[in-house]
Amino acid sequence: MTTPTEAHARPGRSDASGSTAPSGDGSVDGGRTSYPPSAAFVAGAVAHEDLHHAAEADRLQFWADQSRELLDWRTPFTRTLDFDDAPFAKWFDDGTLNVAENCLDRHVRNGLGDRVAIHFEGEPGDTRTITYAELTADVQRAANMLSDLGVVAGDRVVVYMPLIPEAVVAMLAVARLGAIHSVVFGGFSAESLRARIEDAGAKLVVTADGGWRKGAVAPLKPAVDEALEGEGTDSIEHVLVVRRGGNDVTWNERDLWWHDEMAKAAPEHEARAFPSEQPLFILYTSGTTGKPKGIVHTSGGYLTQAAFTHRNVFDMHPETDVYWCTADIGWITGHSYVVYGPLANGVTQVLYEGTPDVPEPGRWWDLVDKYGVTVLYTAPTAVRSAMKAGRQIPDARDLSSLRLLGSVGEPINPEAWHWFRQVIGHDRTPVVDTWWQTETGAIMVSALPGVTQLKPGAAQCPIPGILAEVVDEDGNRVEPGASGLLTIAEPWPSMARGIWHDPDRFIETYWSKFPGRYFAGDGARLDGEGDIWLLGRVDDVMNVSGHRLSTAEIESALVEHDGVAEAAVVGADDKTTGQAIVAFVILTAAAADGVDRAAVSEELRQFVGQRIGAIARPRQVVIVPELPKTRSGKIMRRLLRDAAEGRTVGDTTTLADGGIMAQITELM
Ligand code: WTA
Repeated sequence: MTTPTEAHARPGRSDASGSTAPSGDGSVDGGRTSYPPSAAFVAGAVAHEDLHHAAEADRLQFWADQSRELLDWRTPFTRTLDFDDAPFAKWFDDGTLNVAENCLDRHVRNGLGDRVAIHFEGEPGDTRTITYAELTADVQRAANMLSDLGVVAGDRVVVYMPLIPEAVVAMLAVARLGAIHSVVFGGFSAESLRARIEDAGAKLVVTADGGWRKGAVAPLKPAVDEALEGEGTDSIEHVLVVRRGGNDVTWNERDLWWHDEMAKAAPEHEARAFPSEQPLFILYTSGTTGKPKGIVHTSGGYLTQAAFTHRNVFDMHPETDVYWCTADIGWITGHSYVVYGPLANGVTQVLYEGTPDVPEPGRWWDLVDKYGVTVLYTAPTAVRSAMKAGRQIPDARDLSSLRLLGSVGEPINPEAWHWFRQVIGHDRTPVVDTWWQTETGAIMVSALPGVTQLKPGAAQCPIPGILAEVVDEDGNRVEPGASGLLTIAEPWPSMARGIWHDPDRFIETYWSKFPGRYFAGDGARLDGEGDIWLLGRVDDVMNVSGHRLSTAEIESALVEHDGVAEAAVVGADDKTTGQAIVAFVILTAAAADGVDRAAVSEELRQFVGQRIGAIARPRQVVIVPELPKTRSGKIMRRLLRDAAEGRTVGDTTTLADGGIMAQITELM
């Protein structure tokens, strides 16, 4: 592993132009580019090195110290970790706290009430500046509103919202009551929303009439109405609707306007203390089956690691930094690095409702300029889109406020890494590549700026207090230079506490391949210096624009169409989105008769978009006469992936029908 001391001892970069970018194979030998710790971060680096040393000396003591330093506990904990019921961990078990109070009230008490918490910018250009005092007041009132509507600790509240301040207020108000939020990304369909409401047994939905997206209002309320017509949603008592889009909505007896109910609610709310292990949220994520998993996170451990990583990986100076994480609250990145991490640290941040290219391609860079953003955290796919649009767009803006860039969601290709650093960061800013997952709750593997010699394309080293290890199929640690599977050897504070109502699936999915180790589902390689390079998923999870989707989920959606007899889906490499969805479909005899292939393909693409959400719409649907199957009937996805990526198709000798791949390739 790159220990801090080694990193300092290494020679500086050999070439700043980026022309000798590592290919991503993990080798950094032979004069390839890497970047020394940035001078601007070296002061902080001493503290960061101490963190590494402290964690190495006593991991549990280290996390206990961090938790005490970063959070306000109502009842101090005396037990750090209880893993007797492994893999179900308890952290800081006998302590109590209120998560919302840690993100809000305590900053106001500490005299920071006038600090801006959120610079909100709507897509049409409307803005709101919300201080910590104002956000605290909003959340207190909203907590009273929810409790007037009968929400009590442990209840589930589904949040289906655009990226507006009320979404953050709703999450924190739920947390303040010890209730459990389940945010469903606003791009998901009515059916996806219904399934999550049913699984969570939610009492209330918070939504908006609509939100601004790509220059128009994207309605949300109609999807809630449709979802609640479906099965398994009787648990919902009310729908709270924020007025945002101004679009017409139909009104049902259970519906209430957010602004009406807020006006009725009392302004002051006393936060109760809850146990550290009080569930905080459920977030559904795609697994290897058709049914999304409700990943459960709890309070004290989650907030500790979200705050710790936010502070140290991004080298936060809350008094001066203006931070912007571009993620939507519908994903884990929005939970940990828009809501909980930054607010626990009392940081000022930008919240932007819309897309990067509205009203024109430079919108993001205009926002960096306008708000003086210092730390920008985004996804490789966004960087690649900006590259495609051309550097003249950012070059025309003043981006000199930026001092640190972060990447998350998928492996960042060295070309995008260099472009990000040079064009957006003017070759001054470190780029930290952060690996983590919905299940890990917070960043697990990342360079620390100022400490680590940065290698473009590598997530590099576990953060202090985390034991990330690459192992072979037998669970033995691989040597530097070899690849294997990424695992975590010891429990960590923000780890998932389970899958909602499905403990067996939690054990089976993550803890059974290597007993005693968490199996992440990612392939990884150690380079000659022991640094970690992520290689992508090794299971049937795809990563499209940094969003997780399972092949099985899309296959299930496709076969729900009357005309589809069978479907196989693969993730194919894609220059912009990382991976793209390619579906191979056999039509039913009736549907196949005299069919217009192009029209049916397009219909099926749209069908999947309606069933799951636009992000799940395949790039391509190929109608095929048969799928490549072994004699035992197993679909050989490897061959389909070859075809989808335009490669020569691999070995077909084990296929039942040897000629099928030639036919499929013809049809691509
Ligand atoms: C992938 C997102 C390489 C990985 C926070 C993981 C990454 C999945 C990186 C989790 C990275 C995320 N380098 N791969 N820096 N960050 N991934 O749950 O495959 O939406 O398993 O959490 O994204 O996706 P999730």
